[in-house]
Amino acid sequence: MKLILLGAPGAGKGTQAERISKKYNIPTISTGEILRTQIKNGTELGAKAKEYMDKGQLVPDNLVIGMVADFLSARGNEGYILDGFPRSIPQAEALDAMGITLDKVLSIEVPDETIVERMSGRRVCSKCGATYHTKYNPPKGDCCDACGSALKIRDDDNEATVRDRLSVYHAQTEPLKSFYEKKGILVSVVGCEKVDDTTALVFEALGEA
Ligand code: AP5
Repeated sequence: MKLILLGAPGAGKGTQAERISKKYNIPTISTGEILRTQIKNGTELGAKAKEYMDKGQLVPDNLVIGMVADFLSARGNEGYILDGFPRSIPQAEALDAMGITLDKVLSIEVPDETIVERMSGRRVCSKCGATYHTKYNPPKGDCCDACGSALKIRDDDNEATVRDRLSVYHAQTEPLKSFYEKKGILVSVVGCEKVDDTTALVFEALGEA
């Protein structure tokens, strides 16, 4: 299965991607994670990307498209989940131009004010990237349940940047919903339920309850 996850920042794309990945045994390609790794590794791409990410803006299409094309060509016909790509109409057109046939595009719908409240409680593993929430999806202890590493708050999770990211989402990413609706492959779920309940809706939308 080749699947795109759409949704506002904090809608729960990463959280649901982990569960879809386990169920279907396919990897997740998260452009946000790849870019954060580039920053951590001090690469030239990471330095350029950081300027935009810290302001809640999109990294320029040409930088992101080249980076994703390398990953996708290495996968060939094998399935994957795209989390955070495409994020603009030019990125979606670039994906089409790569000749990739998508099975579904899943949009997770959450109102902006719920997102702002959620982001203040997000914690991510500094090593494996697993995502938790202090209230809605807490780890068992102070460290990552999966690998035992320290948990941290993401640099772009402060309220002002979250609000900027939401504006960017509505202006540049949300138009992708009608782009994929026209192709007949868009499915939507409400992402305001508890994490497990949202997962049930996601599996139902993907055709396997
Ligand atoms: P990226 O890392 O992709 O961030 P994002 O899309 O803004 O999404 P998030 O990772 O913040 O949230 P999520 O939807 O995965 O939610 P999560 O599951 O963590 O991108 C970061 C930046 O990189 C961008 O701003 C941009 O600058 C750049 N970038 C990336 N891709 C790009 C591209 N293609 N082009 C250009 N630039 C690009 O959940 C959030 C929290 O809520 C967690 O704490 C979680 O535990 C909790 N939660 C999840 N589900 C629920 C629920 N149902 N109920 C209660 N709490 C829940």
